[in-house]
Formats: sequence, C-alpha cells, structure tokens
Amino acid sequence: MKIRKAVIVAAGWGVRFLPITKTQPKEMLPLINKPLIQYSVEEIVDSGIEQVILVTSVGKRSIEDYFDRSAELECFLEQKGESGFLKEVRRLSSLVDICTVRQKEQLGLGHAVLSAKNAVGREPFAVLLPDDIIAGHSPALKEMIAVFERYDANVLAVERIAAQDTVKYGIIEPREIADRIYEVKSLVEKPEPEQAPSNLGIVGRYLLMPEIFDVLEKTPPGKKGEVQLTDGLQLLLKQQAIYACEFEGTRYDAGTPVGWLKTNIAFALRHPSIGPEIKEYLRQCLGEDEV
Ligand code: G1P
Repeated sequence: MKIRKAVIVAAGWGVRFLPITKTQPKEMLPLINKPLIQYSVEEIVDSGIEQVILVTSVGKRSIEDYFDRSAELECFLEQKGESGFLKEVRRLSSLVDICTVRQKEQLGLGHAVLSAKNAVGREPFAVLLPDDIIAGHSPALKEMIAVFERYDANVLAVERIAAQDTVKYGIIEPREIADRIYEVKSLVEKPEPEQAPSNLGIVGRYLLMPEIFDVLEKTPPGKKGEVQLTDGLQLLLKQQAIYACEFEGTRYDAGTPVGWLKTNIAFALRHPSIGPEIKEYLRQCLGEDEV
C-alpha cells in the first residue's frame, strides 16, 4: 500500500532552547533562510507523500500560519514588484496539504504519534522529527519508502553513532540482510553504552504500519516517565517485522543550541551565494591557519 500521509511531531516545549522557545516554536528556528520544519516538509513532498499531519501543542500557531496563504503579504509584494519573494511565498502555501492535531499533554513521542491516530486512519504512514535534518542527493524518506515497498513492513532510519552517544538514541539490535538494510531483532531506548545492542541509532524518520497505534495505546511509560515510540516498536515486534535502513545522506542534529548552530554553519559553508563569505569570515574569526 502506498504511503500517502506523514506525521511531523512538533509538540515539544523546546526546553533546550529556552528562553527563545517561550514564544517561538523550536521548529520555526531558522536554518539559513527557512525554518527547520520546512526541510521536513520538503523531504516529504520530494518523497511523493501528499498529506502532512502536524502534531502540535499550545503556542505553535506560527507553524500553521507559515504554510497558510497570506493574502496581505502577497498583495504587498505584488505592489512592490518583489516577484521572487512573491513566488516563494505562494509556493510555500501550496507545497502540500497540511492538517493539524493537538497533543494536549506532553507525555512523550509515542503519545504524540498516538495523537495522530484518527487523522492517519488504518494505513501505513511516515513519522518525521524535524530536529533531524538529512541532506543528500535523494531524500532519506524516499530511500526508506523503497525498503518499505520491498519488504511491506515497518522501516526505521538508522545511522552509526559514537559508542558514548547510545544514551541519546533508540538503539536497534540488527541482523544485516542486504547492503545497509537490517532486520530489527530488538530495540531499546537510550541505553548506557554497556547495555547497547549495537551502535546503530534511530534517526527521526519512521515508516509505520497502523497497528503501532493499537500497541501505543497499551505501551506503559518508559524512560523519563514518557510513552516512548521505541518501547511501542519493541512491543510491535511481537506481531510484525521491522526493518532498518542506513540511509545515504548526512544527518544534522538541530535539536540543541550547539547542534543547531553547527547545522547552520555547515549549510552556510556550502550555500552557493553566502558560502564563500562565511568561509572567509570564519577564517578571520579563527586566524588564517585554523579553518
Ligand atoms: C527521539 C527518540 C529516539 C530517537 C531520536 C532520534 O529522542 O525517542 O529513540 O533515536 O528521537 O532523533 P529525542 O531526540 O526526542 O530525545
């Protein structure tokens, strides 16, 4: 069955970015000239998915407004003859069909995904965490869809992580079945390095069967007292196969202030119009020899 819907989880408080996230959704922080969440939306569109379900919470209105039409702004840009910006602003509002569901209590990623149950219905769907930005020749989600179509089962995105970083990720116990494709034997949320079954960490892209909703309804709170998606997937393994795809692109973690800054620097350096100037500026900041 074709994957038609993608859930973007954008409901968190953005605690690591406080105080700016007091009034500014983390997902709307800029990566060069676009908000973080736009990279996920574009990855979804470029992967052939037609509908986005945003899981939001209180204070996230600006995300909905961003992807909506702004007749006033369009009129202003038209009058000023700003045809480039006008085109971009119009493109944004017609990128994809977006609907919103609210997570009313912040009870964890598993609970956030469960909030989208009625909007998704009984069909396979994608989940994206917009903190994880993946750059590459072809969208990571598209690569995962090819794996989904081959095995007709749940697919997670994974990447090799440093041994000491297992505490930051869901970790899989893998059995390699093809080049960069694994059958998942078990999963554990944020284990200590000694307990980790491998160094393959889950990145914020999932293709899931609708049965995950039934399982999440019964998943008890885990790490941090929250309903963890990883725990739900471990339960789902009892009835369904799960595969993992080690995607080709490069992942950037924009979910912490330092990670966000590094991602901006990386994108700025390879940006065709501002790249040379930023490189020169970094040289100046650090002294000629250090960059
Ligand atoms: C979440 C998941 C974790 C996954 C990670 C990917 O953690 O719980 O399993 O590896 O996203 O970014 P978070 O980063 O929200 O703490």
